[in-house]
Amino acid sequence: MVVLDFGAQYAQLIARRIRESRVYSLILPYDTPLEQILAHAPQGLVLSGGPASVYEPGAPLPDPRIMEAGIPTLGICYGMQLMAHLLPGGRTAAADQREYGRTRLFVDDGADLFAGLEPRLICWMSHGDSIVALPEGFVPLAHTDRNAVAAMADRRRRLYGLQFHPEVSHTPWGLEVLRNFLYQVCGCQPTWTMSSFIDRGTAAIREQVGGGRALCALSGGVDSATAAALVHRAIGDQLTCVFVDHGLLRQDEPEQVVRTFRDTFQVPLVHVDAADRFLARLRGVTDPERKRKVIGEEFVRVFEEEAARLGEIDFLVQGTLYPDVIESGTRTAARIKTHHNVGGLPERMRFRLVEPFRELFKDEVREVARQLGLPDRMIARHPFPGPGLAIRIVGEVTRERLDLLRAADAIILDELRAAGLALEIWQAFGVLLPVHTVGVMGDARTYGQVVVVRAVTSEDGMTADWARLPDEVLEAIASRVTREVPGVTRVVYDITSKPPATIEWE
Ligand code: XMP
Repeated sequence: MVVLDFGAQYAQLIARRIRESRVYSLILPYDTPLEQILAHAPQGLVLSGGPASVYEPGAPLPDPRIMEAGIPTLGICYGMQLMAHLLPGGRTAAADQREYGRTRLFVDDGADLFAGLEPRLICWMSHGDSIVALPEGFVPLAHTDRNAVAAMADRRRRLYGLQFHPEVSHTPWGLEVLRNFLYQVCGCQPTWTMSSFIDRGTAAIREQVGGGRALCALSGGVDSATAAALVHRAIGDQLTCVFVDHGLLRQDEPEQVVRTFRDTFQVPLVHVDAADRFLARLRGVTDPERKRKVIGEEFVRVFEEEAARLGEIDFLVQGTLYPDVIESGTRTAARIKTHHNVGGLPERMRFRLVEPFRELFKDEVREVARQLGLPDRMIARHPFPGPGLAIRIVGEVTRERLDLLRAADAIILDELRAAGLALEIWQAFGVLLPVHTVGVMGDARTYGQVVVVRAVTSEDGMTADWARLPDEVLEAIASRVTREVPGVTRVVYDITSKPPATIEWE
């Protein structure tokens, strides 16, 4: 299934919903020429929603031939308005009243798209434009109080349009409509599963690597760990993993990486304990960007030394995900990449890349990880920045301050897990401030350090909201941290969103 991207967020969500329906989907830029679309032999096409109006100058338009190409097509919101705009007889205009949010939908024609659904439904609308004239050959399928055409079809040409968003969770039965399109209209079979992916991926890696040798840098994160596990399944001991332990990871993480890969999976693993080197380079460094630079450079240096020691290596394994690939490949995804993972390895070293997850979303990688038997803790891990705890210690990074933060951070996560909240939260962690404040313990005055608790909800880390943690959880964190971590007298909760703040403190 091909999703044409008229607005990156919408397109990704649609592609994910299609894959959750066990049909493979890929996203292409909205103006991809018909020949390139056909090269993927799609069983169907989805035109995504987008922020534009079809009649605005410069509105994104697809190759006009796509509607005549005989491919079953579903236009969603902007995608449907495009159909009305481009096909003879159709007309789209600004609606007198915008429809936004929960809306009652009345189904007038319950065949194919609405098969098996009630005639009255609740859907999620978000549009300022409506179809005022149906294109030739189309019939209306549903309406709302304010909108005579909320869904339409030309069954002969298998062209369908929906004014509402079936992909959002606020349209509870939206997935059924999407599935009706996939299975009934396009004739797709639900065969895209992560076990089928693992089998195909294993074969593809074997074919790519042949008798060569591959190297994978493990960071403790789920993407690189799963990539290493899959590549090891494919080529066994032709893969060596290098785990550069910069001493800036969270509690128990280094041990877990070593235990999982060396002991459980029996992957040849080079564990480089480079904490002293990194700490020496970080001495006296307080500027956040300088910290990042120092750590990135040192990481590359250590990695290169280890790679040189290993001798001839042909391939570098990376856990690149589909959203990163789309980001660099489609024009509508106007995101600004501000962060880099530690490294910059491929530019400096002449490896060929093995990127088994270039076509997967994060939740699919987690499923692969589960099926390959990675530990739950590793799979459920929150995103963690390459420079590690160094950018969560405001001011100078020292061994003592790292130990203190690590202990406080572990308590924060522990309490969130105990409350069953860890998975609902995008990231939660502690930050150590470079100030001392007064406290009292027993009868004595103390003068100790401040730990900030940061917990945010987010879809993708680009924007975030502070998590409304229950009082009891915050209280448990504060009392345990001050009791169990010597030197901490005060715990505060960060209640800023991103923007204006960032998720990390540095
Ligand atoms: P901010 O702090 O910019 O973070 O709101 C957004 C997301 O990026 C992560 N982050 C980093 N990741 N290297 C990384 O690999 C970095 O230097 C870095 N800085 C922030 C952060 O944890 C959050 O998920």
